[in-house]
Amino acid sequence: MKVEEREISQAVIRRLPRYYRYLGELLANGVERISSNDLSKRMNVTASQIRQDLNNFGGFGQQGYGYNVKYLRTEIGKILGLDVDHNFIIIGAGNLGQALANYASFERSGFKLKGIFDVNPRLEGVTIRGIQIHMMDELKSFIRDNNIEIAVLTIPKTKAIEVAEQLAETGIKGIWNFAHTDLKLGENVIVENVHLSESLMRLSYKIGRYDEEHSQE
Ligand code: NAI
Repeated sequence: MKVEEREISQAVIRRLPRYYRYLGELLANGVERISSNDLSKRMNVTASQIRQDLNNFGGFGQQGYGYNVKYLRTEIGKILGLDVDHNFIIIGAGNLGQALANYASFERSGFKLKGIFDVNPRLEGVTIRGIQIHMMDELKSFIRDNNIEIAVLTIPKTKAIEVAEQLAETGIKGIWNFAHTDLKLGENVIVENVHLSESLMRLSYKIGRYDEEHSQE
């Protein structure tokens, strides 16, 4: 029973960022309230799924009124921990690390990039969007002095475990891991792995299925 409960809420939590994004777009377009039916059409999920998902957190909706977009977005933001700022650093200032550092929109959700780290001495002191690249010997003190919660790992796979273990010792709370390796750290460091290639493989699969279905027509 408990496992089921946990599984359900994890599935819901995986869907929350999408709700948050859609509600943000509605808000930007001046939409103040929305019914679960309208939201369901926009998001391409069933209205009952939406009602079920949001009921997990006490509903937020009113019969005959729908959802107050701003309120719902704020509440979902709180659940996702977006009502407080999160300081983060990027480790690995190569192609991907620099691309992420150049992406300013994380800041709008409260993720503040404070520093970038690398081992390449040619990158020392270089800035990206005004944020400085530091060498790894400064890592520990930087994390402590700047109240860093999250580290983004964009380094080669072969170095990921070593660096992640180093990070765990600093008391960092979370690692957003792009390196293609599974990190096993203590319970106190949460790891979120991102594999863009998996999404690309799903696309490839769907294209294959589409081609198969249409060749039989
Ligand atoms: P890159 O070679 O351009 O950059 C890697 C950077 O890490 C370099 O600047 C290098 O000096 C630095 N580095 C190496 N060892 C380090 C260490 N011990 N500490 C700190 N910095 C260190 O590589 P790119 O293209 O930026 O890719 C980075 C990583 O991300 C690779 O592991 C790659 O496979 C992975 N990747 C993952 C994707 C995903 O969807 N998960 C998508 C694209 C790349």
